[in-house]
Amino acid sequence: MSKPKRIRKAVFPVAGLGTRFLPATKAVPKEMLTVVDRPVIQHVVNEAREAGIEHFVFVTGRGKACIEDHFDHQFELEATLSSKKKTRELEDLLAELPDAGRTSFTRQQAPRGLGHAVWCARDIVGDEPFALLLPDMLHHGDKPCLAEMIEAYEQTGGNLVAVSPVPEDQTHQYGIVGVKDAKAKVSQITQMVEKPPKGTAPSNLHITGRYILEPEIFPLLARQEAGAGGEIQLTDAMITLSQDAGHPFHAVRFDGAIYDTGSKIGFLLANIAYGLKRDDLAPQLRAAIKDLL
Ligand code: G1P
Repeated sequence: MSKPKRIRKAVFPVAGLGTRFLPATKAVPKEMLTVVDRPVIQHVVNEAREAGIEHFVFVTGRGKACIEDHFDHQFELEATLSSKKKTRELEDLLAELPDAGRTSFTRQQAPRGLGHAVWCARDIVGDEPFALLLPDMLHHGDKPCLAEMIEAYEQTGGNLVAVSPVPEDQTHQYGIVGVKDAKAKVSQITQMVEKPPKGTAPSNLHITGRYILEPEIFPLLARQEAGAGGEIQLTDAMITLSQDAGHPFHAVRFDGAIYDTGSKIGFLLANIAYGLKRDDLAPQLRAAIKDLL
């Protein structure tokens, strides 16, 4: 196999309405809700940056303009921090800002599903493989999930998804894959299905919201008909791509914790787990939780 092309770009679909989180998300995008002291989307962009991603592509929608502002300079704030000699705060702020020209924003003009959102990024991604990160799903491990995937991709090439086991009674809520070797860290995918009806899942390995995809997915998404939930499903286009022999799919098992911040419990747990990993917060937080219980 020739050396696979480098993954330079990552797509973040951030057009979702966040109805599971109303009324919090009435005027604030769900991606801007904070886990400890950063918006959810910043945590996910940081994961991508730590994996070597250079260009960050956001598929946004109406009411999401503050995400674009968040990834830009805020001159008044920076000038104030600077004049007040708050050097560390200023440095921290700038460290997480993508360089000029390294972000792109496009809009998904109608809520037609994840497959349609990814398709909206086709012109910006162009003819190269790319990463896709679903911002709701925070992956918390010793090593960033996307970094593990890119390492695997350098060996396998092709397409990859991160997977992790879920209880059998939850498989109908996710994309589920069957693999050649369920115990291996990286294994070839033999089957994929989006939200299988209860009792029909090929395994308990769910697609966790991290992907590396070849650009050949785009023309398939353009033709993809609505699937589960009446939406254009990314998984359905991935199935078509995988049936084409030149486009293998591998699963990379993620062994860290995953928090679905689109659900209330997942969001609360993420705040506690991320807080407990912070040296400046953990001792006090641990004691406070004990008191509370
Ligand atoms: C999407 C994907 C699904 C994946 C899930 C992870 O579903 O279609 O395959 O397992 O994200 O969160 P959604 O959560 O948008 O229904």
